Formats: sequence, structure tokens, C-alpha cells
Amino acid sequence: MQPTNWLNITKFLFRNPARFGVLAGKVTARVADGAKNEATDSSIGWIERNSQDAAAIALTIAPELWEEAGAFAATMNARGTAIVDKLPFKIGGGGDYRFLYWLVRLYQPRVVVETGVAAGWTSQAILSALHKNGQGELHSSDFPYFRVSDPEKYIGCVVDAELKQKWNLHLDGDAKALPKILEAAPEIDIFHYDSDKSYSGRATAISLIRPHLRAGGLIVMDDIVDNSWFQDYVEREKLPFTIIGKRVGVIGTIAKPSAG
Ligand SMILES: C[S@@+](CC[C@H](N)C(=O)[O-])C[C@H]1O[C@@H](n2cnc3c(N)ncnc32)[C@H](O)[C@@H]1O
Repeated sequence: MQPTNWLNITKFLFRNPARFGVLAGKVTARVADGAKNEATDSSIGWIERNSQDAAAIALTIAPELWEEAGAFAATMNARGTAIVDKLPFKIGGGGDYRFLYWLVRLYQPRVVVETGVAAGWTSQAILSALHKNGQGELHSSDFPYFRVSDPEKYIGCVVDAELKQKWNLHLDGDAKALPKILEAAPEIDIFHYDSDKSYSGRATAISLIRPHLRAGGLIVMDDIVDNSWFQDYVEREKLPFTIIGKRVGVIGTIAKPSAG
């Protein structure tokens, strides 16, 4: 863990006092969630029993796109690693960008929304796949890493400059950004959640997003192993789901969309 730098935190809040509400909300949610924020043997066991291999799924549905996604991921890995290795602090790790690239190529979405950008591994994967599709827009939400100086300049640092031009990036935290995004893009094809990993953070975001998800659309959630939110939700709502590896949960049915 990096040491708390109170000077950076003070500067961060001073430049934009509205951020105080986001930080206070995070602390309140952690306290209110209490033990719900912890994984249990039962929730970890459930994930392990349901876990599937991304490659096995992708090769069954669209093998040629999985190969393309592999080439994308290899290039991305080399380029992105060279960039993040030079950063003066350790930035939040990348989600499953090969799988996301494959999914976006498969679904040909018009609207993708993601929360949690950090260096931008998943943003780059989604934007690259949309670019290759020749259609679609990405709306992303993040909240800069407040412990370092000028954190905004690192957000999306692995995203290609030309892809940034068509990117709708919000940096005021999910609570403020998601309502704005939903106003601009009320129908979502794919939602990728990789920001506030608390139990109530997940619940709040999905309750906002789900009414805006198109029929057949997908919710992809990272780090589901952190607590039992994903299991509790899909069981309570009786939703189809897939677990990729031990971290990524998908709500909805992954299938080749029918033409038309
Ligand atoms: C694991 S990182 C995201 C990694 C990213 N998907 C990638 O592939 O590079 C999580 C990010 O979520 C952001 N975050 C945490 N809480 C947030 C909130 N309430 N609203 C928006 N972003 C938040 C963090 O600042 C961090 O940048």
C-alpha cells in the first residue's frame, strides 16, 4: 500500500470540492456494508464451482475473433506495460481486456459504458474493438487516484491518442457520472463495471444501469471474488450468468447475436 500523502489529498479536494462528497460516500458505504464487503468460503466456493474458461467459450462461439483478440492483447500488453512501468506510482490493474475486446467485436454494440478507467487497459480494448467494428461509442467513468499529485493526467494513459477523440470520459465519480451518461446514452448494449468494488457500490451502479440495458445486453463485472454481491444478485433476480476465470462475472447470456 502507498503511504497517505495528505498534501496531495488536500490539493485534490481543493481543486474540486465536490469530490469531498465522493470520498465521504466511499467511507460511509464501507462502514455501512461492514462484513458484506468480505468474501466468504461459501462465496469463493460458488465462484470456483461456476468458473469457466474464456478461451473455451470464445472458441465455441467465435474462434476467429478470439484469435484477433489474442493479437490485440499481445500488442496491447507490450505497449501498455512500457507505459505503466514508467509511472511514479502503481496504478490499478487492467481488467480482462482480451475477453472484453472479443465481446465488443462479437456484439457490435452501439453503446458501451464502463466504470473504472485507471490506466485504461479496458478502455483501450473497448475503443479498439469499436474502431474495428466501425461503429459504437464508449462512455467511461472514473475518480482520479487522489493520493498522487495531478492524478487526472494518468487516467487513460495507455489509450491511443486518436481513440481518445471519440471517447466520453467523466472524472467526477460514478454517482455523478452515471446519471449524466445515461441521459446522453439511455440504451446500453454492454456495461463493464470495474470501479467501486464495495457491496453497496455494485448494488447502486447496477440498479441505475439495468433499466437502461437493451434486451440481450450484457453486464460484465470485474473482481466479483471480493464479496458475495454478484452471487447474491444473480440468485435473487434469477438471472442467467457466466463466470470467466475467478474474477469476471457476466450477467446475461453470451451468444452470437442474431442478425438484424
Ligand atoms: C481497477 S481500476 C480500473 C482498471 C481499468 N478497468 C483498466 O483496465 O485499466 C479501478 C478504478 O476505479 C476508480 N474508482 C473507484 N471508485 C470509484 C467511483 N466511486 N467512481 C468512479 N471511479 C471509481 C479508481 O479510481 C480506479 O481508477
